[in-house]
Amino acid sequence: MPTIGIDAIALAVPEGYLDLADLAAARGVPAGKFVEGLGVQRMSVARQHEDPVALAATAARRLFATSGVDPSTIGLCVVGTETAVDHSKPVAAYLHRLLGLPQECRVFEAKHACFGGTAGLLSALDWIAAGSARGRKALIICTDIARYGLSTPGEPTQGAGAVALLVSDNPRLLALEVGSTGSYAQDVNDFWRPLYSKEAVVDGHHSVQCYLDALAGAYKSWQNASAASGITGELARRCYHVPYGKMAKKAHRHVMQIEGKTEAEADASYTAEVATSLRLPSQVGNIYTGSLYLALASLLEAEAAELEGKRIGLFSYGSGCCAEFFAGTVPAGAGAFADKLEMAAPLKDRRKYTFAEYEQIRLRDDKADQRPVNGDAHGLPAGSVAFVGVDADRRVYIA
Ligand code: CAA
Repeated sequence: MPTIGIDAIALAVPEGYLDLADLAAARGVPAGKFVEGLGVQRMSVARQHEDPVALAATAARRLFATSGVDPSTIGLCVVGTETAVDHSKPVAAYLHRLLGLPQECRVFEAKHACFGGTAGLLSALDWIAAGSARGRKALIICTDIARYGLSTPGEPTQGAGAVALLVSDNPRLLALEVGSTGSYAQDVNDFWRPLYSKEAVVDGHHSVQCYLDALAGAYKSWQNASAASGITGELARRCYHVPYGKMAKKAHRHVMQIEGKTEAEADASYTAEVATSLRLPSQVGNIYTGSLYLALASLLEAEAAELEGKRIGLFSYGSGCCAEFFAGTVPAGAGAFADKLEMAAPLKDRRKYTFAEYEQIRLRDDKADQRPVNGDAHGLPAGSVAFVGVDADRRVYIA
């Protein structure tokens, strides 16, 4: 029986970021509140041409280039996003052309707040396990621009980026335990974005509690499912959905409390099991659907070699809400393959925006979806895709 899971990962982030210390200074709060209090150092800021389709296409092109996998082998492409560009046409349809995917391919978009990417990933696992893949691979892309109102408590938890995941049998990064995941769902009003708004509405402190309740429920469900499948073994690392780093720390404490650990034990295990996964998220901010997989990339980038043969737990949370806890094992050879993927490379050489530039980008961005095509690719690096405007209501991208 072949294993199924994540074969390769690639990221895309906008070219520029805002330093959270600069945001704090502009908003008149101590930098410590954002940097230590929330656990975020920088947040990616997307400009007009860096829309969710462009970010997704850029991440996927990088995935094909670094993994050596050909787009012609893809039979399923699912995009998870909660910042889609159209109420009907899915981001995945734009990607079909931009990536050169085969015509014999199922493409669609999945929406459930930050859970959409995980919904795509779990569907892909089932698609392969059921035999529908017939030797083909799945491409799952999480792409989002996290946006809250200026001067609101959510503002320091913004970000933008995409994570592309290749899902296949005999995966080279993480073999997942298909069929023994733990689910939790409930109708809650913690975070949402009405159709008329570009900015999310959030009941911040309530959302933290909803996340923790969902974690407890999904974790218990996962424990039961694992026991029923006869799967045993300690988790060496745990990756959580990361709206901001401190939330992952709260999450881990919650799980440790459920397991009967003391506060000191929980803090020690946080340092050993979770902290590494928060390095890249602290440099990018919240990317909604991709946040969990950015944490996974952060972990594998740093520790894949020493994690070979070890088990990792993953927690995905989507407001509204739906959550899933699942696990997998890092296969032999993952360390060398992770080095080859250079997952963190897109974060190098980014531009630091001043606070004034950030504000200008935010205010101008409101009209981005209606601007006429100007053909300006803004000098993007090779391999990137840019949104260059609208022609008769048709979005135009250049690569
Ligand atoms: N130095 C160090 N730490 C400081 C500090 C200082 N000077 N000042 C404050 N802090 C600490 C506080 O003690 C607090 O830490 P604890 O949570 O450990 O107590 C932390 O900084 C934040 O302070 P506040 O709680 O006062 O911050 P706030 O009320 O202004 O906003 C927030 C916090 C509610 C999370 C807000 O950022 C928000 O609404 N964010 C968006 C919603 C969100 O991300 N929710 C997460 C769960 S929902 C989800 O995960 C889905 C999703 O992606 C959105």
